Amino acid sequence: MIEIFSHKNVISIKEFSKDDINYILEKATKLEKVAKSQEVSKSLNGKIVGMMFFEPSTRTKLSFETATKRLGGAYIGIDNAASSSISKGETIADTAKMFESYSDALVIRHELEGVSRFISEIVDVPVINAGDGAGQHPTQTLLDLYTMKKEFGDIEDLKVALVGDLKYGRTVHSLSYALGLYNVKMTFVSPPELKMPKENLRDLEKNNIEYLEESNLNKVIDDIDVLYDTRIQKERFPDEEEYNKIKDAYLINKKMLEDKNLIVMHPLPRVNEISQDVDNTKHNRYFEQAYNGVPVRMAILETLISNIKNKK
Ligand code: NCD
Repeated sequence: MIEIFSHKNVISIKEFSKDDINYILEKATKLEKVAKSQEVSKSLNGKIVGMMFFEPSTRTKLSFETATKRLGGAYIGIDNAASSSISKGETIADTAKMFESYSDALVIRHELEGVSRFISEIVDVPVINAGDGAGQHPTQTLLDLYTMKKEFGDIEDLKVALVGDLKYGRTVHSLSYALGLYNVKMTFVSPPELKMPKENLRDLEKNNIEYLEESNLNKVIDDIDVLYDTRIQKERFPDEEEYNKIKDAYLINKKMLEDKNLIVMHPLPRVNEISQDVDNTKHNRYFEQAYNGVPVRMAILETLISNIKNKK
């Protein structure tokens, strides 16, 4: 194993090298055995993780909580602004300062881009971005890469289509950047209104990464290894009518996949992107992907918390 991962925080996937990513993926492979056993590791013994969730979450929150418990740690947290003193007018900075004094690392989800970075600048404990608006979702990307690596043995040379809401979807913003570190053939499939933002495309171009843009999924579906589907992000649309026009843009079903040799991934929740008849096919990897959040988040927590211990 490459003994490097010196980062204090996990804010944006752009801060990580391929070696950093491999470090986490290899550690996650080892920890998956702990995650699946009834045993509990002791690496977070006596540690408390603060979960600051200001936006809805099922998988991310529960897998961070499970990861903390499997490592022998404990957690505290809030689920929404309404149940915290933010609703009384407290600033996010004050709330974060309190959390810092109660816990050894913070996991933050917020609807505004940049909130995790802002908090990482005012607290001393490690900060993990669990999704900031339409910005980034780096820990999701790590589990997405882990899922691909587990499936194919390697991420290099895969053909991946990112499908759906590429404009507002933070998972694909992080994932496209990370896939650019490998020699992946990337195709961005979306309605014209929901194309990958220019800023993300520019990041790829700066690194000489080639990509294709397409609105017709049928044109690419025969020649991909991974179909990474995403939800149309209703909550980020300024106008509900706009959302209604494109909400059912791509519905993948069993029939469409019949003669295909690809896996379907999705960060979940799905709304109307993948028909339930895909669930029992060889293509379904979305539930396993959600499970993979546990070992990957164990690896992230263990690494960041041991980095602080080593500095002391
Ligand atoms: C994603 C998110 O919150 O960005 N969900 C997740 O973390 N698994 C995707 C989504 O909400 O559509």
